[in-house]
Amino acid sequence: MNNAPIGVFDSGIGGLTAVAEFNRLLPHENIVYFGDTARLPYGTRSKETILKYAEQDIRFIKKHNVKFIVAACGTVSSAVGANMQTGDGVPFTGVLMPAAQAACSATRSGRIGVIGTPATIRSGAYGKAIRAIRPDLTVVGNGCPLFVPLVENGFTARDNEITKLAAAQYLKPIRDENVDVLIMGCTHYPIIRDIISDYMGDNVTLISPGEEAAKHVLAVLTETEMLSDREEQGENRYFASDSVELFAENAKAFLGQEFRGRVEKVSIDELTAV
Ligand code: DGL
Repeated sequence: MNNAPIGVFDSGIGGLTAVAEFNRLLPHENIVYFGDTARLPYGTRSKETILKYAEQDIRFIKKHNVKFIVAACGTVSSAVGANMQTGDGVPFTGVLMPAAQAACSATRSGRIGVIGTPATIRSGAYGKAIRAIRPDLTVVGNGCPLFVPLVENGFTARDNEITKLAAAQYLKPIRDENVDVLIMGCTHYPIIRDIISDYMGDNVTLISPGEEAAKHVLAVLTETEMLSDREEQGENRYFASDSVELFAENAKAFLGQEFRGRVEKVSIDELTAV
């Protein structure tokens, strides 16, 4: 048993798609969430910069004595791979491997699509992870650079014409490849799941990386007997590196009733201080 919080981070509000799943699957766990909104987006940056930011994010999260660290960010997960060392032996997972596993289990046709930020798609990390599990599968990917700004700016309603147009543009090459599974390889994308699903059609299974990461953490904590023994509902504590008001507004719109707790500010100076 371990009542320490689970630390979750992303460049912005996308990782809240993972928090929603943690709250659902692990309702008695405390969560510390950090959204690096001042430095968003990560997905258009170089691998070197993404790794530097990830290290700083992890250092910040670790100050909260977490028992598990989750990079709820497809971009960070693709850059660090499975072997991230967090120091002090704190277990770590990205969203990459759990999502790749889920896609391999879900496909019947052997054709998997992956969408993500430009950095994620450029890294080819999802394809490598999938082929390491099932070398026989075909993986087709496409970067969707406008999805993150559209989500962060609230263009998320199912009938939003701008987001629908962007989705059609980005998803057409994937749909033309007749995939039966699509990994939404960025944690922001499940927020526009309906738009993605409407374009891809009912026969395509959508994989949410945050949901798969939460299932993975549940399995590991159960196996290692590190679940909390708290009987009441766990608490969520949020940190953001830019406006806490904006974060709360966006998070409320996305998490609705489930958004509890206040948002605290973290300065870039605090993140970068060694
Ligand atoms: N949510 C992040 C991801 O999963 C990306 C957002 C960004 O570009 O910073 O890739």
